[in-house]
Amino acid sequence: MTDQEIRQLLSVRGEEQKKLFARADTVRRESIGEEVYFRGIIEFSNICEKNCFYCGIRRDNTKTERFRMTHEEVDQCLRFIDKSQYGSVVLQSGELTSRSALDFVLQILKNIRKDFPEMGITLSLGELPKEFYKELKEAGADRYLLRIETSNPELYRKLHPADHLFERRKQCLLDLKELGFQVGTGNMVGVPEQTMDDLVNDLRFFQELDTDMFGLGPYVFHEDTPLGTPEMKEWWKKKKHDILDTTLNFIAVLRLLMPTVNIATATALEAIHPRGRIYALQAGANVFMPSVTPVEYRGLYLLYQNKPCVDEKADQCSGCSVAKVKSAGLIPALGKRGDAQHFSQRNRGKT
Ligand code: 5AD
Ligand code: SF4
Repeated sequence: MTDQEIRQLLSVRGEEQKKLFARADTVRRESIGEEVYFRGIIEFSNICEKNCFYCGIRRDNTKTERFRMTHEEVDQCLRFIDKSQYGSVVLQSGELTSRSALDFVLQILKNIRKDFPEMGITLSLGELPKEFYKELKEAGADRYLLRIETSNPELYRKLHPADHLFERRKQCLLDLKELGFQVGTGNMVGVPEQTMDDLVNDLRFFQELDTDMFGLGPYVFHEDTPLGTPEMKEWWKKKKHDILDTTLNFIAVLRLLMPTVNIATATALEAIHPRGRIYALQAGANVFMPSVTPVEYRGLYLLYQNKPCVDEKADQCSGCSVAKVKSAGLIPALGKRGDAQHFSQRNRGKT
C-alpha cells in the first residue's frame, strides 16, 4: 500500500468507511480467525514520576488523590480474572523507576506464577532501565506495552516536558524486543497539531519496529492538564467524532498492513461513543481489556475525562464485555492466553 493510499483510507467516511472495515474484518478472519482475547486490566497505582501534557494522572496534577493497591487487593483481582477465564492479566500503573516500585511488581509476578501458572502476563509500567525489564522478564512477564504516542519527534516534544525523550522511549521498545518480550506499542490519534502525514508515518513506524501488539486510541480531553484549556475543550468537543472515525480507520489500516498482530480496543473510545469499543472490534481489533480495578480506585485512574465504567464493579464489566464482543459478531475466546501470532512468526523467522 502506498502512503497516498493509506492517507486516503484514513479519511474515508460513510459507505467507503464500511467497505474499509469489511476489508479489515476479512483479513482478520482469514489470518487469525474470529476470536477475541481478553485481558483483565489491574490499574494498581496512579502514582507517576512523569508529566505528560495530556494525562490526568501526571505528577503535577495535585487534584488527583494518589493510591497504590495492596498485595491482598491485587490478589483478589487476580482471582477474579481466573474465575472469569480472561486468560491474561495486564498490570498497569504510572511510571515509577525506584527499586521499591520494581520489587512490588516482582512480588506480584511471583504470586501469579505460583497460583496461576498458565495466566498470560502483560506489563504496562512505562520507561524503565533495561536491567529492570530483564528482571521482570525473568520473573515471568510475557508481554510489555509501551506506546510511542507519536512517531514524530517534533510533535512528541510538544506533548511532553523537555526531559521526556522520544529517543529514550524508542530505545525502551528496542530493549524490550531484545529481551524477548512480546512487545506492544501504539499512538494517540487526534492530539493537537497532529497531521494525516503523522498518522501515515506512525503506521510506517509500527511496521518497521515490527511489534506484536498494539494498544492505540483517541486523544481525550482532560481539564487538569496543560492541554486542558477552555479553548482546547471547545476544539476537542467539535473534533471528537472525527477523531473517533480516524481512530477506527487507523485500526482497520493497521490490520491490513499487519494481519497477525494483536490489536486492543481502547477504553478511551467509549469516552467518545458508547459503542466505541464494539466499532473497533468490527474494524479489526481482536483484544478486549475489561477493567478489574476495584471500584473505589477506578475514579482515581483517570488519564482522560468521561472514562466509562468508573462506577461498575468488575463482575458487571465481565458480562458486558462478553456481550460487546458477541454484538460485534465475534467469538469471546475465554480461557485462552491469546498470544499474538505475529510473535511466534517473528521468532520462527529468526531461527
Ligand atoms: N487521552 C487518551 N489517552 C491518553 N493517555 C494518557 N492520557 C490520555 C488522554 N488524555 C494514554 C497514553 C498512555 C496510555 C497509558 O494512556 O497513550 O500511553
Ligand atoms: Fe504518567 Fe503515563 Fe500519564 Fe505520562 S501518560 S503522565 S507516563 S501515567
